Amino acid sequence: MSKTWLVTGAARGIGAAVVRAALAAGDRVVATGRDPAGISRAFEAQSERLLPLRLDVSEPHEAQDVVDAALEHFGGIDVLVNNAGYAQLGVFEEMEPAAVSAQFSTNVFGLMNVTRAVLPQMRRQRAGHIFNLSSIAGIRGGQGGTLYSASKFAVEGFSESLALEVAPFGISVTLIEPGYFRTDFLDASSARFATRTIPDYADQSARLRAAFEAQNRKQPGDPEKLGCLVAFLASQDKPPLRFAAGSDAINAISAKAESLSSGLAAWQALSLSTDWRQP
Ligand SMILES: NC(=O)c1ccc[n+]([C@@H]2O[C@H](COP(=O)([O-])OP(=O)(O)OC[C@H]3O[C@@H](n4cnc5c(N)ncnc54)[C@H](OP(=O)(O)O)[C@@H]3O)[C@@H](O)[C@H]2O)c1
Repeated sequence: MSKTWLVTGAARGIGAAVVRAALAAGDRVVATGRDPAGISRAFEAQSERLLPLRLDVSEPHEAQDVVDAALEHFGGIDVLVNNAGYAQLGVFEEMEPAAVSAQFSTNVFGLMNVTRAVLPQMRRQRAGHIFNLSSIAGIRGGQGGTLYSASKFAVEGFSESLALEVAPFGISVTLIEPGYFRTDFLDASSARFATRTIPDYADQSARLRAAFEAQNRKQPGDPEKLGCLVAFLASQDKPPLRFAAGSDAINAISAKAESLSSGLAAWQALSLSTDWRQP
């Protein structure tokens, strides 16, 4: 049966690829972004199954307006893809407090704003599927990724908990954990870098920035394939809670799982010693 999707950050990158895959599957799509003209430009073939709307996810009232307009136009929302996001990169001490707020306003609070606006309709329908774009950075931290990683760890904890709360209403939650995908993600048009400079960090910061910039447009992941995969997962009766996308994601997440397991085993006796009663 055909579905209605709401996709955030749909003008480019992974979001645009998801929109193309959903339209190709014959579904209806509310494609949202900060610049609706950019969305119209992104999809040459205009379709009556496509509704482009303005949505800056960091503005709570905009999410509710978009959901109201989507319901008015298509009558329901079956799939929400919380895709909008960007990376605030740089060492922690060189980032201004405003950069912390902005990173969380989009990647975490923005995702929650849209989820909060969509859930009442999904509960009424007793069905729905929410995809939250996390990252390998939501599983393991890395140098230069304190803020971005913190935001994606928040997305992980939020989604894993939300999945339990909404399962009784027939609503699924899937975390998509991409490795590096070839989009504008590391481009100056999307990524933001620290604005303060602290001499102690000069070498480290320069090295990190050069490494991020060197990866731009050379990432191993193909966003079109990921878009199709999200459409495939949306068609599953029992979708996964987590989906690692890409060989680099498999490697990074496997390494984290092993380090968690070996860390637990190494300290197990002491960990158990803090209970009132020893087992
Ligand atoms: N590409 C990767 O390597 C990678 C890896 C792991 C996770 N991810 C995640 O995948 C998602 C999509 O990233 P991408 O690779 O497609 O990057 P991208 O090509 O830079 O696209 C990011 C999209 O997010 C939108 N956006 C940013 N802030 C927004 C806001 N406040 N409100 C609404 N839209 C906003 C942008 O809109 P504008 O066009 O208006 O700027 C753009 O459409 C992000 O959540 C990212 O963290 C990406």
